[in-house]
Amino acid sequence: MSKLSAYLFDWLQHSDCYREIHAAAIAAAGAPEGRGWLDIGCGPGALAIHAAVSGFDACGYDPDSDMIDRAKARARSAMVSVKFGQSGLTDAVDCGIRAEVVSAASLLFVLADRDAALRDLMKLVAPGGLLILIETTRTMTPANALALFLRRFRHPRNLGLLLWGLVRGGKAIDLEPLIVNLPVASHTTHHVLDGMVTISVLRMAMPAGIALDGARQVAENHRSKMEMLDVDPPDLLSARKRAGHSGDHGDRAAGRL
Ligand SMILES: C[S@@+](CC[C@H](N)C(=O)[O-])C[C@H]1O[C@@H](n2cnc3c(N)ncnc32)[C@H](O)[C@@H]1O
Repeated sequence: MSKLSAYLFDWLQHSDCYREIHAAAIAAAGAPEGRGWLDIGCGPGALAIHAAVSGFDACGYDPDSDMIDRAKARARSAMVSVKFGQSGLTDAVDCGIRAEVVSAASLLFVLADRDAALRDLMKLVAPGGLLILIETTRTMTPANALALFLRRFRHPRNLGLLLWGLVRGGKAIDLEPLIVNLPVASHTTHHVLDGMVTISVLRMAMPAGIALDGARQVAENHRSKMEMLDVDPPDLLSARKRAGHSGDHGDRAAGRL
């Protein structure tokens, strides 16, 4: 991925419309109470940083080093404590991390094997926790993006919305059929930016006998395992490369908006 893509994503992520999406996702997650938040395919890190500022114990992972460099720089300049690491989805699963909230924004859109990616994302969620999927809909078109820009986001820092509308041009994945048969306890959908973006919140089932505290314990164990082993995702990624693993889930075009 080029530095240019990382720059463009950074610009888009720090627009008011992206902030609005992130704020809605964080509100949908409920009270932070020190819960862990894992953003997979975090790009330049805005959602993880926003989650951390809101009180979550947040980390962001992305296989692209330019994205992660930008995310770390953003966190430093915002003076927010967020752990960012270079890692793909499969690497994160292999590492055994778990969190009470796992998010993936515009990640499924860029992956070829979405069923496998969803199964992997669910493995990262602690029992009873939430998986939050953020994706554009077919109404993300140049005309709708322009109308919304003129009505609510008329400022140069929000021009990325127009670029987003142009690049997507109404292409979107159909989340509903992917989600409908998943073994989750509940599923709610929130519509933002005039319905051009949906936030799907999937609550994982809590296996019988595991109370909320038990679920916290599971996530804590994984976090402390990471700390204890000093598992640093960049090392994970290079270890996997050395072992001959390739990219996961058929990443079709990692940098697509
Ligand atoms: C369309 S961008 C979205 C970035 C960010 N989540 C956002 O909403 O702005 C997709 C991101 O997924 C990352 N990505 C691609 N393949 C991935 C994989 N297999 N696992 C995790 N992230 C991946 C890319 O590097 C890229 O940063």
